[in-house]
Amino acid sequence: MAKFIFVVCQNGAESACKREVTRNHPELRLAFSRPGFITFKLNEGDLPEKFFLKSTLARTYGWSCGSATSPSSRELIERVLDLPEIAQANQLHLWQRDGALPGTGGFEPGMTPLAEEMAAQIRKHFPAGKQVPVNRLAQADAAVLDVVMVEPNQWWFGFHYATTPAQRWPGGVPLVDPRVDCASRAYLKLQEALLWSGIRVKPGDTCVEIGSAPGGACQLLLEKGARVIAVDPAEMDPVVVSHESLTHLKCRAREVRKRDLRDIRWLLADLNVAPAYTIDTVAEIATNQHVRHLRGMLLTLKLPDLELVQQVPDMIQKVKGLGFNLVRTRQLAFNRNEFCLMALRDQYALRDSRRKNG
Ligand SMILES: C[S@@+](CC[C@H](N)C(=O)[O-])C[C@H]1O[C@@H](n2cnc3c(N)ncnc32)[C@H](O)[C@@H]1O
Repeated sequence: MAKFIFVVCQNGAESACKREVTRNHPELRLAFSRPGFITFKLNEGDLPEKFFLKSTLARTYGWSCGSATSPSSRELIERVLDLPEIAQANQLHLWQRDGALPGTGGFEPGMTPLAEEMAAQIRKHFPAGKQVPVNRLAQADAAVLDVVMVEPNQWWFGFHYATTPAQRWPGGVPLVDPRVDCASRAYLKLQEALLWSGIRVKPGDTCVEIGSAPGGACQLLLEKGARVIAVDPAEMDPVVVSHESLTHLKCRAREVRKRDLRDIRWLLADLNVAPAYTIDTVAEIATNQHVRHLRGMLLTLKLPDLELVQQVPDMIQKVKGLGFNLVRTRQLAFNRNEFCLMALRDQYALRDSRRKNG
């Protein structure tokens, strides 16, 4: 029988995502596409049951088990409860595909009222003794049954194993509250980047953010007890800038004296410039003789044209060349026309960041 996989991405990223996936996986052919939702047919060869999709733009993915269309939500719920995959599932994730670009017109990815209502209906209709948690953080490696509301009356079904942090979140969106009071959306981006990368910023860690104004990301770092060096010629949010653990260097990155960065452990960059400029800017810092304690970086790299994602492998090579052995990329759910690159000196950097007093 033909096998299919589904991929969920940002609304509008589907064309670039299709090209990226088929380039990295020549065994896949496009089957179906809607904004933010794609399926592929496995044409030749096979993929392991717990396959890893090589893609920056894929927010989440899994095996596809088909779809159902009906004007009656009751009928669609019955189809979910009849799926044979439900018997093996440890978790059920149900969500609506993104209706807009994140951060536009008040839209943020995550649970919609309709998805919440359908999830509540499903919980109510589980047969006695066969309940499965719905829309919770899946355990690592759990078998997850996916229900994607591609349209309110057209649901697609799938399953995957939660083998990566983002595969544990319903629809690949972290379970965070997007209504938090923050200086900018960068607060949400960094929250997600930390959860995805596994980096734990600990109290007393020194962080530098290049491109820090108005200050959402710095706000989150300060909440974590970090000492923050904020580099930006633009004005910072008055509350963030007055925090005693923040130093604002009101200049461009290249004007910063590198010896002022000698204690940094984590380097963040969020510049509204071309990716090559961001990488060159962080390269000057990461390779400087004074900067000896740097463990890792989280970079926001701009993609004014999403097709530029095809250059990501070259960017990864360039960052590896700076002495970072572990480099990964992901278009975060809270990213817009950009993606996140995490770079760690080695796997121990992550382990050390998790130790209490490391
Ligand atoms: C997307 S905003 C950063 C948002 C910020 N991370 C936050 O948490 O609110 C981009 C910033 O990059 C700054 N920027 C652009 N070029 C820069 C450079 N060469 N050095 C430092 N900052 C720069 C801009 O002034 C702008 O404030």
